[in-house]
Amino acid sequence: MKILIINGPNLNLLGRREPEIYGTQSFSTYYELLKKRYGIHQIDCRQTNHEGTIIDWLQEAESQYDGIILNPAAYTHTSIAIADCLKAINIPVVEVHISDIRKREKFRQHSYISPLAAQTIMGKGLKSYDLGIDFLIQQNISKPQNSKD
Ligand code: DQA
Repeated sequence: MKILIINGPNLNLLGRREPEIYGTQSFSTYYELLKKRYGIHQIDCRQTNHEGTIIDWLQEAESQYDGIILNPAAYTHTSIAIADCLKAINIPVVEVHISDIRKREKFRQHSYISPLAAQTIMGKGLKSYDLGIDFLIQQNISKPQNSKD
Protein backbone atom coordinates (compact mmCIF):
# COMPACT_ATOMS: atom_id res chain seq x y z
CA MET A 1 0.00 0.00 0.00
CA LYS A 2 1.24 3.52 -0.78
CA ILE A 3 0.59 6.12 1.88
CA LEU A 4 1.60 9.78 1.93
CA ILE A 5 1.99 11.68 5.20
CA ILE A 6 1.53 15.43 4.79
CA ASN A 7 2.58 17.58 7.71
CA GLY A 8 1.65 21.26 7.84
CA PRO A 9 3.25 24.35 9.35
CA ASN A 10 5.73 24.17 12.21
CA LEU A 11 5.71 20.38 12.35
CA ASN A 12 9.31 20.50 11.10
CA LEU A 13 10.09 21.82 14.60
CA LEU A 14 8.81 18.75 16.46
CA GLY A 15 11.14 17.77 19.26
CA ARG A 16 11.92 21.34 20.27
CA ARG A 17 8.55 23.02 19.67
CA GLU A 18 6.43 23.21 22.86
CA PRO A 19 7.72 19.79 24.03
CA GLU A 20 5.20 19.73 26.88
CA ILE A 21 2.46 19.49 24.20
CA TYR A 22 4.16 17.79 21.25
CA GLY A 23 6.87 15.69 22.94
CA THR A 24 10.64 15.61 22.55
CA GLN A 25 11.00 13.31 19.54
CA SER A 26 11.79 14.83 16.14
CA PHE A 27 9.59 13.74 13.24
CA SER A 28 12.58 12.43 11.29
CA THR A 29 13.53 10.06 14.14
CA TYR A 30 9.93 8.91 14.46
CA TYR A 31 9.59 8.54 10.67
CA GLU A 32 12.57 6.16 10.53
CA LEU A 33 10.88 3.92 13.14
CA LEU A 34 7.59 4.18 11.30
CA LYS A 35 9.12 3.00 8.02
CA LYS A 36 10.61 -0.04 9.80
CA ARG A 37 7.32 -0.79 11.56
CA TYR A 38 5.30 -0.73 8.32
CA GLY A 39 8.06 -2.36 6.25
CA ILE A 40 5.94 -3.91 3.52
CA HIS A 41 4.15 -0.65 2.82
CA GLN A 42 5.54 2.44 1.11
CA ILE A 43 5.17 5.37 3.45
CA ASP A 44 6.33 8.72 2.12
CA CYS A 45 6.40 11.90 4.13
CA ARG A 46 6.44 15.61 3.29
CA GLN A 47 6.26 18.76 5.38
CA THR A 48 5.52 22.32 4.32
CA ASN A 49 4.76 25.60 6.02
CA HIS A 50 2.61 26.71 3.06
CA GLU A 51 -1.13 26.19 2.62
CA GLY A 52 -1.08 26.11 -1.20
CA THR A 53 1.66 23.48 -1.19
CA ILE A 54 -0.52 21.21 0.96
CA ILE A 55 -3.27 21.59 -1.65
CA ASP A 56 -0.87 20.85 -4.54
CA TRP A 57 0.34 17.70 -2.76
CA LEU A 58 -3.20 16.52 -1.96
CA GLN A 59 -4.24 16.94 -5.60
CA GLU A 60 -1.15 15.12 -6.89
CA ALA A 61 -1.48 12.31 -4.34
CA GLU A 62 -4.92 11.30 -5.60
CA SER A 63 -3.43 9.47 -8.60
CA GLN A 64 -0.28 8.24 -6.87
CA TYR A 65 -1.25 6.97 -3.41
CA ASP A 66 -3.83 4.72 -1.77
CA GLY A 67 -4.33 6.98 1.22
CA ILE A 68 -3.18 10.15 2.93
CA ILE A 69 -2.35 10.95 6.53
CA LEU A 70 -2.86 14.69 6.92
CA ASN A 71 -1.85 16.83 9.87
CA PRO A 72 -2.75 20.30 8.62
CA ALA A 73 -1.50 21.81 11.92
CA ALA A 74 -2.88 25.36 12.40
CA TYR A 75 -4.57 25.26 8.95
CA THR A 76 -6.97 22.74 10.52
CA HIS A 77 -8.73 25.64 12.16
CA THR A 78 -8.64 28.16 9.28
CA SER A 79 -8.38 26.57 5.86
CA ILE A 80 -11.51 26.52 3.73
CA ALA A 81 -9.12 26.00 0.78
CA ILE A 82 -7.86 22.66 2.14
CA ALA A 83 -11.43 21.65 2.98
CA ASP A 84 -12.51 22.46 -0.61
CA CYS A 85 -9.63 20.35 -1.90
CA LEU A 86 -10.69 17.38 0.26
CA LYS A 87 -14.17 17.66 -1.22
CA ALA A 88 -12.72 17.56 -4.73
CA ILE A 89 -10.39 14.55 -4.46
CA ASN A 90 -11.31 10.91 -4.20
CA ILE A 91 -8.80 9.25 -1.87
CA PRO A 92 -9.14 8.35 1.82
CA VAL A 93 -7.67 11.05 4.04
CA VAL A 94 -7.08 10.52 7.76
CA GLU A 95 -6.78 13.70 9.80
CA VAL A 96 -4.18 13.32 12.51
CA HIS A 97 -3.21 15.53 15.44
CA ILE A 98 -0.53 14.91 18.01
CA SER A 99 -2.42 16.80 20.71
CA ASP A 100 -6.10 16.55 21.57
CA ILE A 101 -7.42 19.74 19.96
CA ARG A 102 -10.81 19.27 21.68
CA LYS A 103 -9.13 19.87 25.04
CA ARG A 104 -7.09 22.94 24.01
CA GLU A 105 -7.87 26.63 23.36
CA LYS A 106 -11.32 27.37 21.95
CA PHE A 107 -9.89 28.49 18.58
CA ARG A 108 -8.35 25.00 18.14
CA GLN A 109 -11.53 23.12 18.89
CA HIS A 110 -13.06 23.65 15.45
CA SER A 111 -11.68 21.68 12.50
CA TYR A 112 -12.62 22.40 8.88
CA ILE A 113 -11.03 19.05 8.05
CA SER A 114 -12.86 16.59 10.35
CA PRO A 115 -16.21 16.51 8.49
CA LEU A 116 -14.35 15.54 5.29
CA ALA A 117 -11.85 13.06 6.71
CA ALA A 118 -12.39 9.29 6.57
CA GLN A 119 -11.24 9.28 10.19
CA THR A 120 -9.80 11.72 12.74
CA ILE A 121 -7.22 10.61 15.28
CA MET A 122 -5.87 12.95 17.92
CA GLY A 123 -4.27 13.16 21.31
CA LYS A 124 -2.07 10.07 21.14
CA GLY A 125 1.20 11.89 20.57
CA LEU A 126 3.12 10.68 17.51
CA LYS A 127 1.32 7.36 17.88
CA SER A 128 -1.65 9.16 16.29
CA TYR A 129 0.16 8.66 12.96
CA ASP A 130 0.50 4.88 13.57
CA LEU A 131 -3.20 4.67 14.32
CA GLY A 132 -4.00 6.63 11.16
CA ILE A 133 -1.89 4.26 9.06
CA ASP A 134 -3.52 1.25 10.75
CA PHE A 135 -6.91 2.67 9.77
CA LEU A 136 -5.89 3.10 6.11
CA ILE A 137 -4.44 -0.43 5.97
CA GLN A 138 -7.60 -1.92 7.48
CA GLN A 139 -9.74 0.00 4.99
CA ASN A 140 -7.58 -1.07 2.06
CA ILE A 141 -7.79 -4.75 3.03
CA SER A 142 -11.48 -4.64 2.23
CA LYS A 143 -10.77 -2.92 -1.13
CA PRO A 144 -7.59 -4.63 -2.43
CA GLN A 145 -8.46 -3.79 -6.06
CA ASN A 146 -7.76 -0.14 -5.24
CA SER A 147 -4.11 -0.69 -4.35
CA LYS A 148 -1.65 1.44 -6.36
CA ASP A 149 1.29 -0.92 -5.54
C1 DQA B 1 -1.66 20.11 15.81
C2 DQA B 1 -2.68 20.93 16.58
C3 DQA B 1 -2.87 22.30 15.96
O1 DQA B 1 -3.82 23.06 16.69
C4 DQA B 1 -1.55 23.05 15.97
O2 DQA B 1 -1.70 24.30 15.31
C5 DQA B 1 -0.42 22.28 15.40
C6 DQA B 1 -0.34 20.84 15.68
C7 DQA B 1 -1.37 18.75 16.48
O3 DQA B 1 -0.79 17.88 15.81
O4 DQA B 1 -1.67 18.56 17.66
O5 DQA B 1 0.48 22.84 14.79
O6 DQA B 1 -2.18 19.82 14.52
